[in-house]
Amino acid sequence: MKKIIVANWKMNPQNLFEAKKLFNLIAKKITNKPEFLGKIEIVICPPFVYLPFFKTKNNFLKLGAQNVFWEEKGPFTGEISPLMLKEFNVNYVIVGHSERRNILHETDDMVNKKLQILLKFKMNPILCIGESEEERRKRRTLFVLQSQLNSALQHIPKISSIIIAYEPVWAIGTGKACKEKDALEVLDFLKKNFPKNKVLYGGSVNSENALNFVRVGFDGLLIGGASLNQKEFLKIVKNIVFC
Ligand code: PGA
Repeated sequence: MKKIIVANWKMNPQNLFEAKKLFNLIAKKITNKPEFLGKIEIVICPPFVYLPFFKTKNNFLKLGAQNVFWEEKGPFTGEISPLMLKEFNVNYVIVGHSERRNILHETDDMVNKKLQILLKFKMNPILCIGESEEERRKRRTLFVLQSQLNSALQHIPKISSIIIAYEPVWAIGTGKACKEKDALEVLDFLKKNFPKNKVLYGGSVNSENALNFVRVGFDGLLIGGASLNQKEFLKIVKNIVFC
């Protein structure tokens, strides 16, 4: 099955020049590569303002957004609607990232509304779930994930096109990726309960550990820091294509 590699650039790079450079280098290195066919889909999620500058006709390279609002239009200062994103060929959207949940107080209810509107417009949501360090220590991981999923998915009849990204909060940006055996326990739990959904792993992924997560059965990766380094990112992509 095709693996999905999502690059979450967060609030980086600092200017359009650097952003274009990074995007173009990645795009150039993966065009005309028959060996990639059917093996991989790379989704670049830059800050909103860079999206209009990124064009891709490449089959392996798609555009994603890091957030969306749950209405089509109206008096919602500072927000971006799914229809606006679609105009710029954005078909994937990250929803419920822990940085948004923790820093911007995004709730499960908001996450649920965002998923609903994305599905209405036939876009692919990437739903982030994950436990905190304390929750893991108290062995509450699966309980926390189940409750995040229950709230996020309520009133959604057809959930199969939602990509679930397991991102332990303590692993994000810390250089401390989840141990394979712990990630596998979560993967088994998710696959048992959501057999039709793709499941990604995210949290301190780099070129040394990326393949381990794919080998244990994850359908792909959500990569933050390492996606900003073109060489490191392409190394991860190649490791996955040729594994
Ligand atoms: P990281 O971020 O790879 O830098 O840990 C992952 C994420 O936040 O999606």
